[in-house]
Amino acid sequence: MTEPAPRNYITGSEIAGGRVARLIDRAEELKAGRPLEGAAALGGKSVALIFEKPSTRTRISFEVGVAELGGIPLVLRSDDMQLSRGESIQDTARVLSRYVSAIVIRSGSHENVVELGEQADVPVVNALTPEFHPCQALADLQTLKQRFGGLGGLKIAYVGDGNNVARSLAVAASLVGAEVAVAAPEGYQLESDAPAFLTDDPREAVRGADAIYTDVWVSMGDESTAVRRRTDLEGFRIDSNLLAAAKPEAVVMHCLPAHPGEEITAGVLYGDRSAVWDQAENRLHAQKALLEYLIA
Ligand code: CP
Ligand code: NVA
Repeated sequence: MTEPAPRNYITGSEIAGGRVARLIDRAEELKAGRPLEGAAALGGKSVALIFEKPSTRTRISFEVGVAELGGIPLVLRSDDMQLSRGESIQDTARVLSRYVSAIVIRSGSHENVVELGEQADVPVVNALTPEFHPCQALADLQTLKQRFGGLGGLKIAYVGDGNNVARSLAVAASLVGAEVAVAAPEGYQLESDAPAFLTDDPREAVRGADAIYTDVWVSMGDESTAVRRRTDLEGFRIDSNLLAAAKPEAVVMHCLPAHPGEEITAGVLYGDRSAVWDQAENRLHAQKALLEYLIA
């Protein structure tokens, strides 16, 4: 008997480590065989892509990915839906489930995405909430596997704001036997029970690291505290000195969009140790593997 696919991919931990590894292998096959590999997987099924916040990579990679799998992507701005006029998540979930085979949603409310996942009869995929960004983490693991050949035992240092990207990276890494250390100042750190080593010392986090990762200091929704954040996070930038404290073969990662001069220097972002552009590309392959698994 084949194992049933989980309904939702909202925190990332809905999928067990062995399955994550198989999704990454499948993402590599889809990459190598693009665009024909998997081209009939969705067989004309539609996928709703709901965006309450801006997006370049997530929106476009999902839209291209659904099309390449033979499905129909429906990109929806939530302000164009009755949701923006107070229609409930429950009613939206019931109605969309009659039309589409999956719902991908980027929302300012994690709770709303969880509720959508509970109420919908089709899989719901988190395309970023303030708490989690699991699709990013899947592509990040694929990128690390491409660079290092495996994931077990890798050490990843995340330096900066302990945000959605950091949290999902820690969860995903823990599922495949990689370690994450997060260096963040007081008030910006992940919860103490996060599956990561937590410190306020960037050099401690990057010592012996195979990859060093950062993300913006001001995430979507944090704009009102931008000035204070830039001051508080000033010592948590990836530059060439910090990179030199990691392993000689360590790569640099960033989910993008980047703010060169803030969380990362331009020299490191555009330098030859940067894996950032592969991470962006892998969003497409990893999400195709995920959709194929959840829907096909
Ligand atoms: N990394 C990422 O999710 O980028 P977008 O906000 O452009 O989708
Ligand atoms: N932490 C960032 C990630 C953007 C892809 C944000 O939530 O805005």
